[in-house]
Amino acid sequence: MTIYCNNQQFHLQTNHTSYIFKVLANGELGQLYYGPKIHDKPSYTNLTIREEHDAMPAWRLDQSDFQPEALKQEYASFGKGDFRYPAFQLTETNGSRISEFVYQNHTLTKGKTRLAQLPSSFDDTNDAAETLTLVLKDAVTAVRLHLNYTIFPNQDVIVRSATFVNEGPHTLTLNTALSAQIDLPDAKYDFIHFPGSWARERHLSRAPLHDGIQSVSSLRTASSHQQNPFCMLARPDTTDHDGEVFGFNLIYSGNFLNQVEVDQFETSRILIGINPTEFAWQLTPNSSFQTPEAVLSYTNQGMNQLSQQLGQFYQEHLVNPNFAQQQRPILINNWEATFFDFDEAKLMTIVSEAKTLGIEMFVLDDGWFGHRDDDTTSLGDWFVDKTKFPNGLSHLATQIHQLDMKFGLWFEPEMISLDSELYRAHPDWLICAPNRQATPSRNQYVLDLSRSEVVTYLIEQMSAVITETKLDYIKWDMNRNITEIFGNELAPNQQLELSHRYILGVYKLYDALTKRFPNVLFESCASGGGRFDLGMMYYAPQAWTSDNTDAVERLNIQFGTSYGYPQIMMGAHVSDVPNGQTGRMTPLETRAAVAYFGDLGYELDITQLSDSEKAAIKAQVTFYKKYRQIFQFGRFYRLDNPFADDPNVTSWMVVNSDQSLAIAARYQLLNQPNPKSCRLFLQGLDPNKQYTVNDQPEVFYGDELMTAGLLSPRILKAHSETTTLADFHANLFIIKACH
Ligand code: DGJ
Repeated sequence: MTIYCNNQQFHLQTNHTSYIFKVLANGELGQLYYGPKIHDKPSYTNLTIREEHDAMPAWRLDQSDFQPEALKQEYASFGKGDFRYPAFQLTETNGSRISEFVYQNHTLTKGKTRLAQLPSSFDDTNDAAETLTLVLKDAVTAVRLHLNYTIFPNQDVIVRSATFVNEGPHTLTLNTALSAQIDLPDAKYDFIHFPGSWARERHLSRAPLHDGIQSVSSLRTASSHQQNPFCMLARPDTTDHDGEVFGFNLIYSGNFLNQVEVDQFETSRILIGINPTEFAWQLTPNSSFQTPEAVLSYTNQGMNQLSQQLGQFYQEHLVNPNFAQQQRPILINNWEATFFDFDEAKLMTIVSEAKTLGIEMFVLDDGWFGHRDDDTTSLGDWFVDKTKFPNGLSHLATQIHQLDMKFGLWFEPEMISLDSELYRAHPDWLICAPNRQATPSRNQYVLDLSRSEVVTYLIEQMSAVITETKLDYIKWDMNRNITEIFGNELAPNQQLELSHRYILGVYKLYDALTKRFPNVLFESCASGGGRFDLGMMYYAPQAWTSDNTDAVERLNIQFGTSYGYPQIMMGAHVSDVPNGQTGRMTPLETRAAVAYFGDLGYELDITQLSDSEKAAIKAQVTFYKKYRQIFQFGRFYRLDNPFADDPNVTSWMVVNSDQSLAIAARYQLLNQPNPKSCRLFLQGLDPNKQYTVNDQPEVFYGDELMTAGLLSPRILKAHSETTTLADFHANLFIIKACH
């Protein structure tokens, strides 16, 4: 066992970290330590010293040094002397909001099972996970609180959640129910997070913590383009390859809050969970409320190590095991090639061409259903448009399958158009507040997925199409956020439940479909990267990273995303130029060299390309297939950081598990005349192995490539038939160990 429970002290030890807390004198829990692994011992007096402060409440007259606000708490309540933001708040029928959860007992079990209604971590492979559950009780309300902890020692990850169980006679209101709290003893950290917007998601932002509150959050009933639930606290001198860093994430796709409060004593309180704004839950007698799980991880080996251990954790303990280790097909998507203007014959020309180029899957995007010739109609009518497909969708699917290609289809299940049979039949399924106008967004509205009949309708509609077409893949889109949020079937005091109930409905739909069709690969999409989160990844192991496929923009987006998510989760496509979002011309080979470091796809009209461009794509597809395993699953190292260093240069690399193969890429935006020489300082190689680079005769030891660096060729001019530009250049280096 690597969870030690002695004298009401709990020491959770992973391979390299320790997390320690204990029962305090008042029966509540106090945090002692989170950081590098330390020895277990019966008590840590040094970490529990109480220093008395003036002008501050103390628990009892005879315990003047027991001052809640000066203590590191494990899951703090509000109103008994700790004036920092609390981890939860429970309101009694009389309006009182005071709680006192006192330790009762605990259980320790091997392994980790999934949560019932929420996506969650698991340990199907007996990878040494251990689960500790503490039971606490509030005597006045008779609410039982379970604090749940699982350690995943091999990835240095701890997963936390809380469960509230009402054993009393009255309905209570849970106004705040966060998943985890961490009280760190100082505030000398940089807060690192990933803000963005549609088409420029997850850019790196790093700034020192300051007094007061800083946070990232969402109130969109989606994790959002604008903020992401992944964030880090790193020491100011921490780099990608060295130094202390904590990583936090939430296995959830709805409203979230990750908040850091730096208090009067320069300590830092981190709170992670469902955003308390726009949330409240009626905890009826005998009911329970389970929070989503928060993921915590720490390393003193830099942010790249953190990314790798988290990435490994997600692949082994979060994403659908049917796909976790499975190579992803190279796809062609018709969206940017045709938009809504297609029929079966037109699509088949793309399919046939894709087949000759070696592409493995055709994905039919928006516009195949109802009478959807533009974005104003038909969402909700998940039956085929007979004018585009007179012989049905299965006719197209059969032809694709006969070519030994896979077939994928776009759905936007959560939405409804006013011009749809679904709306005409069920206008009340659309989310809108009474007597208010429903605010449109992309001409569409949102279905109330908190209602089970809506979820059932979608399960049946989608299942019919999946079965009929023997579908291999679904792109699950979600193109707007909810406004006028109101649940027609919810009581007034339940209205603040709707955001969470909606997300539970989305999970219910995902759960049913992934169980009914275990071999269908799901890719989540929300106007690109608007729901790039761990809740989605549990069901859909990859996500469309961004609607922005411009190679230059994708460097920033994929670089930023890589801090919190491994490249196997990132859909990355080569699209046409001038780029639809930026108007930028970039060479075809650069677009591919960026997209290789993800799940490669093409999203352009390949029938319109020149012969040399087609030949180039064929070569790219062959190249990617050869190295697909390392591109999709190799350990990812960030080298030149465009956010922190020279914005003109980005570089990264992947290394396979036995360090016998690596592929590095260096991207330079603007070419320079007579430039200085540049070196790429590689990472992750075996210092004692000998390597060749791009099959050249010279042999390098790994240590040389990592410490002295690899000279990157200067870009003198454009140099291939498909390239007319020397700007936006990519160099790829295939690094092979000599045998
Ligand atoms: C937004 C997605 O991100 C695009 O890739 C495409 O599927 C469109 N929606 C279709 O409406």
